[in-house]
Amino acid sequence: MKKRVFSGVQPSGALTLGNYLGAIRNFVELQHEADCFFCVVDLHSLTVPQDPVVLKENIKNTARLFVAAGIDPEVSTIFVQSQVPAHAELSWLLECHTYIGELKRMTQFKDKAQKQEVVTTGLLTYPVLMAADILLYNTDLVPVGEDQKQHLEITRDLAVRVNNRFQEEVFKVPEPYIPPRSKGGRIMSLTDPLEKMSKSSPNPKSYIALLDPPEVIKKKIMSAVTDSEAVIRYDEEAKPAISNLLVIYSLCSGQSIEAITEQYASTGYGQFKKDLAELVIETLRPLQEKVKTLSAPGAIERILEAGAEKARAAAAPHLRRFQEKLGLR
Ligand code: AMP
Ligand code: TRP
Repeated sequence: MKKRVFSGVQPSGALTLGNYLGAIRNFVELQHEADCFFCVVDLHSLTVPQDPVVLKENIKNTARLFVAAGIDPEVSTIFVQSQVPAHAELSWLLECHTYIGELKRMTQFKDKAQKQEVVTTGLLTYPVLMAADILLYNTDLVPVGEDQKQHLEITRDLAVRVNNRFQEEVFKVPEPYIPPRSKGGRIMSLTDPLEKMSKSSPNPKSYIALLDPPEVIKKKIMSAVTDSEAVIRYDEEAKPAISNLLVIYSLCSGQSIEAITEQYASTGYGQFKKDLAELVIETLRPLQEKVKTLSAPGAIERILEAGAEKARAAAAPHLRRFQEKLGLR
């Protein structure tokens, strides 16, 4: 039996190189060995204010980027979360098994709550909806970036809690699949190497969007912060900025970090950045070409409709099982 893989990406803006290197790249690899479900988690993005017109476009664009990045809709299931009502239903049932304290302790909640004028309940219960996403599909493996580690821990805690309550395996306890930092688990901002690269950053220079044109990519990389000691060396603690660029170089070229540092031992940052810009441009070029072919009217809608149908069928028995255990139905 193939392993089941599930992961989600929020349609809350233009996807970044961080999304690609930390998560989507691994989705593409896993699809050949596992039974994969990749979800545009639109309900999650509602936890902070969204313009409805922009959101609608972002949902489709996120799905287009999945396909353009190499996720094959004939092989993997690509769908939109809100088209499968079981996610919201299971989320409620799990909320009734979640403690407020454990949600208030989530670092992402604390971070995001600080930045909002008003804090909605959705922002607090966000990890429960994520647990529902995962548990609904009997998931074995969840490929995500490092920032989702805590959310996966609470997902596992909830599965174990429910299983203990009923003294049997109601939910499979999923395993995280998180690359180490040197393999893209946490790609950092180009303007502040202590912050992760994020599409919600107000400063577009801090991230590379997957659809940034070549000249924009070049400008952003050439102006990325480095440090004063112009030596190319991997040291996450002492040289976070150049280490981040080395990780990007390594993942885009397939070369090891050691080989790259050796290659640039006698050159300064200038040549390294120029070559890095070329590499990123070439890495994204096929994706940028492919995405154009997916803008034909109805193309992505058909993929998402078929995906939602498969997802509804895959989710139903796992929701039903829990409902029955609870005395519903
Ligand atoms: P999000 O855009 O927050 O929905 O994230 C989608 C996926 O990309 C999740 O698996 C994140 O962990 C991953 N991700 C987002 N930003 C980064 C980053 N800067 N580095 C590595 N992975 C990331
Ligand atoms: N919370 C994730 C993020 O912001 C997105 C997400 C929602 C997700 N549901 C998921 C990721 C289920 C993996 C599995 O990146």
